Amino acid sequence: MQPVVELDQVHKKFGALHVLRGVSFSVTKGQVVAIIGKSGSGKSTALRCMDRLETVNSGTIHVCGHAVHDAALDVRALRRDVGIVFQGYNLFPHLTALQNITLGLTSVKRMSPADAREVAMEVLAHVGLAEKAVAYPEQLSGGQQQRVAIARSLAMKPQVMLFDEVTSALDPELTGEVLKVIETLASEGMTMVLVTHEMAFARGVADKIIFMHEGQIREEGDASMLAAPKTPELRQFLGNGL
Ligand SMILES: Nc1ncnc2c1ncn2[C@@H]1O[C@H](COP(=O)(O)OP(=O)(O)O)[C@@H](O)[C@H]1O
Ligand SMILES: [Mg+2]
Repeated sequence: MQPVVELDQVHKKFGALHVLRGVSFSVTKGQVVAIIGKSGSGKSTALRCMDRLETVNSGTIHVCGHAVHDAALDVRALRRDVGIVFQGYNLFPHLTALQNITLGLTSVKRMSPADAREVAMEVLAHVGLAEKAVAYPEQLSGGQQQRVAIARSLAMKPQVMLFDEVTSALDPELTGEVLKVIETLASEGMTMVLVTHEMAFARGVADKIIFMHEGQIREEGDASMLAAPKTPELRQFLGNGL
């Protein structure tokens, strides 16, 4: 079976800064892959390259059959298949939760307002926020806003979801509700790549964990890798980086 996501020897530089130094990994359908590593190790850059928010210097990236590294990539076609959620929720403050979700459906997907509303209510219910449909972002907690942002992504029916530290801006008491939504998606078979600093969460939800260090994958394995780190870098990261 073709992997949903496949990176092969990806290099990325920002000027003289060589941020990704030969990153290769793959994600199969329904797999949940967690990327961990200390700040600056290249985790966000790797994720952003998968959605063509950054272009690579060399190597190849295939996502849902799209050759993402190719200059001729149909970016809109890629974005129809990939959902990405960041640390900041990026909701429009002047739109309700519902309107934040219907916007992309009526514009990008050209859905009728009635159909868009139906899909939006469905995904809001899915993240446990059906009763907040008419609330504005400022009337929602950070955790609720992040759940709306996830629902907005889900409404586009992506083949794969990318999450970049989606709980790191949240107070600890709000992270659980967001992680629970991601766990639900995992149990439903959504293919996901998530950058996280929540080690217990990564251990619980990920089929594969990738430890990045200075732009390279230093260790890769299942959750047991966290109990028995092989490299001094991972050992140190787990010791300090919680
Ligand atoms: N757009 C950019 N321009 C220049 N340098 C960048 C840019 N984005 C990231 N970097 C640098 O690349 C390195 C890796 O960043 P990043 O991928 O965000 O790491 P992580 O997500 O693991 O913390 C850092 O040194 C960061 O400062
Ligand atoms: Mg980052």
